[in-house]
Amino acid sequence: MLKIYVLLVLSILLCSSLVISSDIEQRKVHLVDMSTNPLPNGNTNYLFRGNEPKIGGENGTTVFAYSELVDYLQNASSQVGVTLPENFYIFDIKLITGPLPSEIPDIELEANFFAANPELGEFATNQTVGDIIDPNFLSQTEIAKMVKSIYTWQKDDLPERMRMIHNMLNYYENDLPVVIYIHCECGCDRTGEIFASYVMRFKGQSFQEAMDWDYQIAGRPIEWPSQWASLWYCWYLYYIEDMAIDCSFVKP
Ligand SMILES: *[C@@H]1O[C@H](CO)[C@@H](O)[C@H](O)[C@H]1NC(C)=O
Ligand SMILES: *[C@@H]1O[C@H](CO)[C@@H](O)[C@H](O)[C@H]1NC(C)=O
Ligand SMILES: *[C@@H]1O[C@H](CO)[C@@H](O)[C@H](O)[C@H]1NC(C)=O
Repeated sequence: MLKIYVLLVLSILLCSSLVISSDIEQRKVHLVDMSTNPLPNGNTNYLFRGNEPKIGGENGTTVFAYSELVDYLQNASSQVGVTLPENFYIFDIKLITGPLPSEIPDIELEANFFAANPELGEFATNQTVGDIIDPNFLSQTEIAKMVKSIYTWQKDDLPERMRMIHNMLNYYENDLPVVIYIHCECGCDRTGEIFASYVMRFKGQSFQEAMDWDYQIAGRPIEWPSQWASLWYCWYLYYIEDMAIDCSFVKP
């Protein structure tokens, strides 16, 4: 059994490291939530999902896509009837697997950009690897028992992660309104896991609705470990937080 897990983990790591990275894309950038009430300083904060904020520069170099990112954030907001303030501070969080050697160049790109431009924002990473067990293989009794101890075994600790993101959105005060931009490379799998969990917890969505949204943004099914982690979180919301959430799923 253990050997199978080790193999699974290795193949997941391998897959993620082979993912071909691409430039920032408008269709991956979405405004997901805003602070519920204005902060004490009167600002509103914003939560976005997206993909890697980079773009090819001259002579085969890669640069941080700051002006594209700002355009895409504004465009994504206006599509849902929200006007972003002209000036904002970006809290850029990259979801990483390792860091693996293949992830280091983009981590450095983002870290260096905000180190050189601290007035524009800051950068952090969050390790996000998904789960390797499909809850659908277990009985409801077993699922109900497993989610009681989710804090101890779920690597990504989605209950805690959701609290962190929601608190950041509602309590992080800066002179400027804060845009929290959470992304991975593709903006599909790890990002899909985090935002599926977020919309189930805070936006009243079912697991099916969250997955339909993720699949549509990715343009394909999202990777199993990411999907299973969100499904475990759905069952956690159902059994532990007593939310009347529907965790059933039919592949679209
Ligand atoms: C790209 O290469 C050309 C020709 O070698 C050079 O003139 C130019 O400065 C280079 N640009 C950058 C950004 O390095
Ligand atoms: C905004 O995004 C939509 C969807 O990707 C695109 O069709 C439109 O051209 C964009 N508008 C601007 C001003 O970039
Ligand atoms: C995610 O990043 C935030 C911001 O730096 C940090 O406070 C938090 O501890 C990180 N969580 C994980 C699991 O890495």
